[in-house]
Parts: sequence; structure tokens; C-alpha cells
Amino acid sequence: MAISKVGVVGGGLMGHGITQICAQAGWDVVMREVDDEKVGACVGKIDKQLSRAVEKGRMESADADGVRDRIEATTDYGQLADCDLVIEAIVEDLGPKLELFAELERIVRPDAVLATNTSALSVTEIAAATSSPERVVGMHFFNPAPLMPLVEIVRAELSSDDAVEAVFAVGEKLGKRPIRCHDTPGFVVNRVLIPLLNDCLRVLDEARVSPEDLDTAMTAGAGWPMGPCTLVDLVGIDVHVHASEALYEKLREPRIAPPARIVAMKNAGLLGRKSGRGFYRYD
Ligand code: CAA
Ligand code: NAD
Repeated sequence: MAISKVGVVGGGLMGHGITQICAQAGWDVVMREVDDEKVGACVGKIDKQLSRAVEKGRMESADADGVRDRIEATTDYGQLADCDLVIEAIVEDLGPKLELFAELERIVRPDAVLATNTSALSVTEIAAATSSPERVVGMHFFNPAPLMPLVEIVRAELSSDDAVEAVFAVGEKLGKRPIRCHDTPGFVVNRVLIPLLNDCLRVLDEARVSPEDLDTAMTAGAGWPMGPCTLVDLVGIDVHVHASEALYEKLREPRIAPPARIVAMKNAGLLGRKSGRGFYRYD
């Protein structure tokens, strides 16, 4: 199926990047957020990235303006009505996602594809909130979305071949390296990465090592591009805890459960880069 207009619901850490790369690929994009403040924050972040790309000579000024013009940022669900594909990137909680997919079904054309960027929830359960689960798939981008090449294209139990192949083609047009997988807990990367990160965080206490030294250990000793504390701060401590809990609920492996230390950080509002403080401080 041909895609010419893309909707993105949620303009946070992932949603703003997904909006930006879809507009850069030449599609008209409608980005929906909950209020004007969040709409403004999303547009501001995209604007900053585009200005930087122009400053650094990676993009022509006219092309950056074209990208800005293709983005319609709104609080109105109705603007999503004529999208061919809607990508959901809201909070990592099943309840709000179920409500949203039921709402999307009422608004978006019946032949449009509905995709979720969930990290660790079941795409099949999300699809069950609609009466047309064949058009629901997972489209799992990695953070930061403009830089990370992988997109997991997740086939849920009832996803149609057409829907899966349409989003795979979108991934290719975005210049990403899409892979196809089935809807199993954590899909491919997070099935491995979430327990691994939680092991790393337990080592903080077990080996009585500082976050700085743990990060040095994993970058200088294991070749990671960034250390685990820096990475969890980048992902968002709330998102990491929610994703760990969702995965633990399905697999019941003790090492997948979020360590107490990081749950306490989430409860204290230390969410990493997005809140200005996590394992590190960000001014
Ligand atoms: N957002 C936007 N732009 C960014 C950025 C970000 N978070 N981080 C860096 N950049 C930009 C920089 O500003 C820089 O641009 P300028 O030249 O204009 O300054 C450019 O990208 C290159 O920056 P760096 O030299 O810092 O880039 P790097 O070579 O160190 O790579 C990285 C940066 C790609 C993020 C790399 O550190 C990396 O791969 N880190 C690991 C990230 C990772 O594992 N992500 C997956 C998280 S898990 C997940 O996403 C799944 C889930 O469901 C939770
Ligand atoms: P975030 O908290 O930065 O952003 C979520 C945004 O969704 C918020 O701005 C919120 O206002 C908005 N929102 C909530 N309900 C909404 C609704 N009904 N309509 C429109 N907007 C709504 O979260 P994030 O890190 O961008 O994560 C979003 C999704 O992407 C989650 O499912 C997460 O698991 C997944 N994900 C996150 C990462 C990561 O590294 N953070 C990576 C891959 C996938």
C-alpha cells in the first residue's frame, strides 16, 4: 500500500525523532500531543535538530524549511483521519495504549496501518483493543531515532502480510535497517538488552563501583558505544523500569526485574536526561 501521510502520536523522546525522520523522508506528518505545551516542546526539539544540521552543513536551509512545513503539530485527534500510517509513541503503559488504539480505530481510515513503538508490551494485546487487529503491527525504533539504524518490524498474531510489508517498506524509505520478527516479549534487542542492563545496574551495588567506573568498564572493556548508566539515562529511567516490569511479567526471570535502586530513582523523579538528573546531572 502507498504511504503519503504519516501520523505520530506522542512527541516525547521517541515521537519527536520519529516525526522528524518521517518528514525528512518526504512524507507529510501529523504529530499529536496532549496539550499545547507538549506540542511546542516537540516542535522546539525538532527545530533545534534541523538548525544544527544546517549549521553543521549536513542539510540545506531550504530543505530544513521543507521539513518544518511538512509537519503539522496538533492536539486534535481528528487531524489523523487521512493518515495512511499512524505510529504510536506514547507512555509505556498498557492501559493508555489500549485506550489510544480504540480511539484511533474510530478516527483513522479503515485501510490505514496502525503501528506501536512499544519497547516491551505485547503488540497482540494492543491490537486486541481494535476490531481490526490485522492492520496493527509493531514498529520499534531505537533511541535516538534519527541516529540508530535498526527498526524492528513486529508481526502480531493477527497482523496481515500487507501491513507488515508496508511498514517494512517505510523503514527502508527512512534509510533504516528494518528486520522482521514475531511478537514475543522484548522482540529481539530488548529481550537481550533489558536483562543485560539490569545485570549491569546490580553490579553497581555488588562490586561497589561508581556509575562513572561502571560506564568506563563497559565502554573501555567491552566496546559498548556508551556505558550502561549513560544509556539508561538516555532511554529514560521511567521507560526502562516500565519496560523491565512488562518483560518480567511475561518471562518471570529474576534478572529481568528492575533492581530496587532504579525503581527508587523512578519514584523520586530521577528520570535521566529528560528530568535533568538520573545517574548523572544534565544542566
Ligand atoms: N539526539 C539527537 N542527536 C544526537 C543525540 C541524541 N540523543 N546524541 C548525539 N547526537 C548527535 C550529536 O549532537 C552529533 O551531532 P553534531 O555533529 O551536530 O554535534 C552527532 O549526533 C554525533 O554525536 P556523537 O559524536 O556523540 O555520536 P556518537 O558517534 O558518539 O554516537 C550514539 C551517538 C549513536 C547515540 C552512540 O553513542 C550510540 O550508539 N549509543 C548507544 C545508543 C543505544 O544503544 N540506543 C538503544 C537504546 S535501547 C532502545 O532504544 C530500545 C528501547 O525500547 C528502550
Ligand atoms: P516520553 O515520556 O518521552 O514521551 C511520551 C509522550 O507521549 C509524552 O510527551 C506524553 O505527553 C505523550 N502522550 C501520552 N499520551 C498521549 C496521547 N494520548 N496522545 C498524544 N501524546 C500522548 O516517552 P518515550 O521515551 O518517547 O517513549 C514512547 C514510547 O516509545 C514508549 O512506548 C517507549 O517504551 C518506546 N520506546 C522508548 C525508547 C527510549 O529509549 N526512550 C526507545 C524505543 C521505544
